[in-house]
Amino acid sequence: MSDTQKAREEIKHLMTELRRHNALYYQQDNPEITDAEYDTMFRRLVELEEQFPQLAKTDSPTKTVGAPALETFAKVKHSVPMLSLNNAFSEEDVRDWLDKIRRFLGLSEEEKIEIYTEQKIDGLSFSARYENGKFVQGLTRGDGEVGENITANLATILPAILKENPPTLLEVRGEIYMTHEDFRALNVQREKDNQPLFSNPRNAAAGSLRQLDAQVTRSRKLGYFVYGWGEVSESLGATQSNYIQAFKNFGFETITDIISQSVKSDVKEVVGFYNFVLERRQRINFDIDGIVYKVNRLDWQQRLGFVGRAPRWAIAHKFPAEQAVTTLENIEIQVGRTGVLTPVAHLTPINVGGVMVSRATLHNEDEIQRKDIRVGDTVVVQRAGDVIPQVVEVRAHEQDSKAFEFPVTCPICGSHAVREEGEVARRCTGGLICKAQAVERLKHFVSRGAFDIEGLGEKQIQAFWDAGLIKTPADIFALDYERVGTREGWGEKSVTNLKTAIERARHVQLHRFIFALGIRHVGDITAKMLARHYEEFSRFINAMNNLAPGSEAWNDLLSMDGMGEVALEAIHQFFKEPHNAELIQALAAMLDVKDAEAVAKDSPVSGKTVVFTGTLVKMTRNEAKARAESLGAKVAGSVSAKTDYVIAGEEAGSKLKKAAELGVKVVSEDEWLAITS
Ligand code: IVH
Repeated sequence: MSDTQKAREEIKHLMTELRRHNALYYQQDNPEITDAEYDTMFRRLVELEEQFPQLAKTDSPTKTVGAPALETFAKVKHSVPMLSLNNAFSEEDVRDWLDKIRRFLGLSEEEKIEIYTEQKIDGLSFSARYENGKFVQGLTRGDGEVGENITANLATILPAILKENPPTLLEVRGEIYMTHEDFRALNVQREKDNQPLFSNPRNAAAGSLRQLDAQVTRSRKLGYFVYGWGEVSESLGATQSNYIQAFKNFGFETITDIISQSVKSDVKEVVGFYNFVLERRQRINFDIDGIVYKVNRLDWQQRLGFVGRAPRWAIAHKFPAEQAVTTLENIEIQVGRTGVLTPVAHLTPINVGGVMVSRATLHNEDEIQRKDIRVGDTVVVQRAGDVIPQVVEVRAHEQDSKAFEFPVTCPICGSHAVREEGEVARRCTGGLICKAQAVERLKHFVSRGAFDIEGLGEKQIQAFWDAGLIKTPADIFALDYERVGTREGWGEKSVTNLKTAIERARHVQLHRFIFALGIRHVGDITAKMLARHYEEFSRFINAMNNLAPGSEAWNDLLSMDGMGEVALEAIHQFFKEPHNAELIQALAAMLDVKDAEAVAKDSPVSGKTVVFTGTLVKMTRNEAKARAESLGAKVAGSVSAKTDYVIAGEEAGSKLKKAAELGVKVVSEDEWLAITS
């Protein structure tokens, strides 16, 4: 193959890959590779395009910015395009950049070029429009030409009204970010809620900002800095620093407040500032990934203009990714509170950017395979910002290094660990009996929709767990009240009350019992449906014990309205686990699980057959069905002479006609709610 042909192939490959990574980074907030890896690919493509200009495509990722706007927000064209920055990776790159400026402007060696320097915030860029000092519109960058309308979301972060006589029209541009603390707190909460974690503060900020519901954005703590502008109705000065000062006066946060911004005039000074900040990077409580240099004089900025996707008058001097090479000594599997098995690398301790690192995350089993990471290998470890150190790649396989076999059982409790289709995480099915998950599961067990035991909330469960009083749900019903009585804060009266509450809880409704088990995908609605379906505890248990895929019990459940394969598979996994079966047996011996029927005999719709049709607005179909069933009604799929009520939501169709033909009573959703409440 000729060199040109080789270059053509490589350019094609790099373009496809960079586009894919752009989409992962900008649209899905879920990058697969590190910024450093991206930059390497990007630089290689720039290099090839310079070497073979005839092969350079006009739509190359080197000439475009970001990725197209998401479909979910309205698209709005930027009044002035939002561009990107070229990168410098060394002092030499910075020198070249300044030389080019000098040549472009025809300046002599003596003439000073003032450079405005400030931190490059690793967040998400925005553009905000103010009319007569009032915030009117906020956009994301999108592809630089067209952004997403995130006005409602930005309104929760930016000042609504400006101070000090701002121009009638002012568009400021800046970056939204999340502090390290808030990022950690958010992930702790997400783990509790069984939601996927954000991999770093930037993705967390992006995910929080691109919420269709602005209330979610409000609940996340986001910060912002303003570093530039778009359309402005009147001049605010002759330099970059004048503008930034004006923004500060209007009430905006500007980057000048972090470790002082400054105006420099030669390479040494500029790079000196870079090193100064680099050394102090750890002390800043949000991520910065470099220093941005901007020609301070705006008339010069104007003359220098843009080339392709970036201005000639600015450059980003990137910080090196904090990486180091060490040996992977072992892989340990940790089990999180939600049962997810996470592989953690044990490393020969190594200094990475000033911090000693001896452990790093390997994310999940697919990552280990993809990177072909083996125990004993020499690996590259990286700390990016504040996130947990990660193993980026294998530097060399060592002779005696061993491929890692990901366990299929939980290292903590020995239960099966399974992967649901389409999920990267493998989870322990041990649930209540797994120590790693026990406390969370116990808290769920006593929560409102479950056993709901007065005086035994999250706090008490945690304390009793720590004291060794409650390890499994069965322990609740065999609690050593004498020992409880010796604990601080537990007087005679409160112990008696707890005892009464626990005794009462022995008589439990079947749906509460099912919900309390904490089976994945079985929330209170599904639990109610199951209880309704089986009516008796013994029938339920019997079916669950015979729930192999394809079995009668399996098909029976699958045909139930609202039951999906995923939930069914999770239920199957749960009951298949001998540890769980033992627990249920122990509980059964201590409890009086009430039949589902017993709940609803005296309701006004008990024994009636009802049909829901059209769109319900006050509740989901599943909810409506579960509620009707819990009141003793039978919910049918089609209208017949046996139907007692048809509940018609919005845009009800043929069923309504049928009801009229058969003379079946039709009620609205509201009427139905009135009857059943
Ligand atoms: S100036 C005409 N200054 O970095 C381009 N950008 O990699 C003006 N960024 O798109 C950009 N901190 O989202 C500028 N102090 C700063 C910045 C900054 C972060 C972001 C911005 C830009 C990206 C380029």
